[in-house]
This record gives sequence, C-alpha cells and structure tokens, in this order.
Amino acid sequence: MKELSVNHLLGIKYITEEDIQLIFETADHFKEVINRPIKKVPSLRDITIANIFFENSTRTKLSFELAQKRLSADVVNFAASSSSVTKGETLIDTVNNILSMKVDMVVMRHSSPGAAVFLSKNVNASIVNAGDGAHEHPTQALLDAYTIREKLGDVAGKKVVIVGDILHSRVALSNIYSLQKLGAQVKVCGPNTLIPRYIRELGVEVEPNLRKALEWCDVANMLRVQNERLDISYFPSTREYAMQYGLDKELLDSLNKEIVVMHPGPINRGVEITSDVADSKQSVILNQVENGVAVRMAVIYLLASKIKQ
Ligand code: CP
Repeated sequence: MKELSVNHLLGIKYITEEDIQLIFETADHFKEVINRPIKKVPSLRDITIANIFFENSTRTKLSFELAQKRLSADVVNFAASSSSVTKGETLIDTVNNILSMKVDMVVMRHSSPGAAVFLSKNVNASIVNAGDGAHEHPTQALLDAYTIREKLGDVAGKKVVIVGDILHSRVALSNIYSLQKLGAQVKVCGPNTLIPRYIRELGVEVEPNLRKALEWCDVANMLRVQNERLDISYFPSTREYAMQYGLDKELLDSLNKEIVVMHPGPINRGVEITSDVADSKQSVILNQVENGVAVRMAVIYLLASKIKQ
C-alpha cells in the first residue's frame, strides 16, 4: 500500500507532489463514500482524535469533525476559550494531558505561526495543522487544488491568481506551495502593502492590476482581508479596496473567457467579492467546502495508517 512520506501534516512545504497525489486518489474514494446513503466507513474505529482550536473556525472545524466521524474515529473537541488554557496552562502541558487520555492524533488551529511544528517536536502524537497564524493552512490548499482538478481536469499547466491580503494569509502560502508542486503557474494580485517582499523568491509573479490578472488566469482565488491580523491601515478604506481589488459581476462578465472563482471563506460580501459573483455558476465556493470533507478524510486516514504500523 502507498503511504505518505510524513507522520504529520504540518504544511504543504513539508510534503511531496506524490503525497498530494496520494491524498487526492484517496479523497476520490471518500468522495464516493460521502455521497452514499450511509456516508460512513469503519476504517478508524480504533483511533481517537482531539480537535483543539485556539482560533475561531466554522468550515475547518466542522469539516474535520465530520471527516473523523465518517471514518468512525472517536472524536473530542477542545475550545481554548472554555479550557484551562485561560488559567495559564501551556500548550505542551495541555496537549500532553489530552494525550494521556489515549488520544492518537491532534488537529490544531492556533494563532501563532509555527505552533503545529513546535507541537510535533514536543509531544508524542500525529499532528495536523488546521491553520497556524499567517503561516500555513495545508488542508485548505489541498481542498482548493482538489477542486481545481475536479473542475478543470488537472492542476498542471493551469494559471491561478490569488487576489487580496497575501501578507496575512496562510491560505495564500499553502496554495502557492501546493499549486507549484502540482505544476500550475501562480500570480498574486493586491495592494502593494499586502504583498510580502519574499513572494518573488517563491517564483510567484506580482500583477498589481486586477483586470490584467483575471485576463491571464484560469482560476481566481479571492481572499478575505484578514482584519483581525491588521495592526495598521494597509489601504485607505474598505470602499477603495473593493473598487480596486473586489470582483464584481460586471468585471467577471467583461472577460473574454469563463474563469473559475474560488474563495476559502468566510466571505465578506461586497468587499473582495460581490454576492452575484459568489453565487454565480462560475463560483465553486461550496464545492470547495464539500470537497474539504473528502480531502480531510483522506489526510486523517493516511496519517492514521502510519500510527497503526
Ligand atoms: N477556510 C477556513 O479556514 O474557514 P474557517 O476559518 O471557517 O475554518
């Protein structure tokens, strides 16, 4: 049986193209499972997983939990705001206490970049990064690439523009790694203040003009401005941002081709994307969410196979 080259999913940076293809092949199987009347398989009846979220989440948290339950794993959920972390307990102590209750795998979202890597080096469990600050969000990038593959047949050779707040976005960095590993071309577009200086070192071109970026691409991934991570004002006003970098139906329809529109969510309707674009037939936003369950089932199943060895 083929297996992942890693024991944790800490970031797309740390996995290979073969790992990604294996996750996709496995997700194809689980996508078929979750479309059956009984959306469940008994594969992980002997595995217990803790989802520990130190930051808010709707999609990622529910998607991981559904993925785990559809694999028949035992699942416990931990929200930092209602835990003893508020009394000063450290991350390592918290996780070691959870692990002593015979937990095999930890899915963690944390506001600190590098938190998942740190945990993997300090505790004895398989760690899945569900987003660490502005660093990586590997399962989001996997489900994004899986959705492009589903919609366009392949990721290799496709042109993808990531638009918006690249500086504070873990989705952008993980997408750049995954798309490049799979052979796509990637550009970014956004206000100069929200484009990190290192971006060109990753082999990514910057296109400041949204129309030109959209005319070039097959896929536009419209990112949310991460207001919760903005310590200063990076652009004059939200209205100005929407006028320069927001995608509306008039702009979308004026392109000489049909592009695929993606968004990782949560959407700020009327800022990075208007409602008529978000709800248009070119939008695959809800397909991304649907695919997230199958992709996360694949990740958990493949990592659990390594625990059982
Ligand atoms: N895309 C994403 O990570 O959404 P949540 O913050 O709701 O999990």
